[in-house]
Amino acid sequence: MKNDYLKNKVAVVSGSSMGIGKAIAWELAQLGAKVILNGRDSEKLESAKNEFLDNGFKVDTFIADIRLQEECKFLISEVISIHGQLDILVNNAGVSSRGSIENSADKNFTILSETNFTGAAHLSKYAIPYLKKTKGHVIFINSIAGFRGMPFNSAYSASKMAQAALSEALRIELWDYGVHVGIAFVGFTQNDPNKKILDVDGSLVYLPKRTNMQLATQESVAQSIRKMIEKRTKRITLTGLGNLANFTIRYLPAFSSWLLWFNREKIKNQYTMIGGLKVDESVQVASEYQEILTDSEVEIEAVKVRQR
Ligand SMILES: NC(=O)c1ccc[n+]([C@@H]2O[C@H](COP(=O)([O-])OP(=O)(O)OC[C@H]3O[C@@H](n4cnc5c(N)ncnc54)[C@H](OP(=O)(O)O)[C@@H]3O)[C@@H](O)[C@H]2O)c1
Repeated sequence: MKNDYLKNKVAVVSGSSMGIGKAIAWELAQLGAKVILNGRDSEKLESAKNEFLDNGFKVDTFIADIRLQEECKFLISEVISIHGQLDILVNNAGVSSRGSIENSADKNFTILSETNFTGAAHLSKYAIPYLKKTKGHVIFINSIAGFRGMPFNSAYSASKMAQAALSEALRIELWDYGVHVGIAFVGFTQNDPNKKILDVDGSLVYLPKRTNMQLATQESVAQSIRKMIEKRTKRITLTGLGNLANFTIRYLPAFSSWLLWFNREKIKNQYTMIGGLKVDESVQVASEYQEILTDSEVEIEAVKVRQR
């Protein structure tokens, strides 16, 4: 039997010009949803849109930096003025980082918090009045780093834990309105070759291909998110390692602390949870791509994008 639950549903997927967000958008579009792709870089968005169009899926794109409250508000209001309704919000846009708390650039804490936590909060806030009308869905793409504070990845971890707290509260706040709030604790997943993360000094570096761990495919993550929407599931944890981490942190907290303590040198030197390369090596990889954006370049890029 063909499942047409998603047919004509209006879905905003934040951060969907690449990676997991694009895979989720694809999964929803394939089943007939009207998808709005989002990101900050117009070229990336345009290229993603063309991929959808080439495969017969009509999608809209919307350039917005979710770190900026006004842009979140504008995104939602534009979606409503074009489509007249909103059924699904997937809070996927996110940025990752690495490095110790002591050495991290001050702005790293701000960028991670504003993207992974307040960005998702603002988009949700502006979407809620419309989701109440459709008894729709708010989905948060979280991480196994959202289960507990991870050494050398603390700001990312904290921002995802804050997002998880937001989702728990929101579920109860929206209970009487029939809005589904779901959170997916995603495990290590394959990344696009052009994925960038915040390095300890605040520069953006390419995340090298991770070969030191088993990775889920973006398609499998997207399928799990689609099922979660269809079944109105509250919480899922993805990958075997993710489930093991969940179990250990929940039921054997002292053991999980010991594991992180025991492996602290390895985690510190190899940044295992993120890239598997030391910062120096990663910078070298990045320079092979001939691109490490400085602070001001990131800002200039952002302004250029908004002006287009
Ligand atoms: N990959 C993994 O192993 C993994 C594991 C667990 C959880 N996750 C979570 O899954 C989500 C997607 O990860 P990914 O690996 O697919 O990331 P990715 O490949 O780096 O893609 C991130 C997407 O978000 C957009 N984005 C970033 N900052 C934004 C902002 N301020 N405003 C609007 N869009 C923004 C990016 O486009 P622009 O840069 O053009 O804006 C891009 O489209 C994240 O929330 C991440 O934390 C990933």
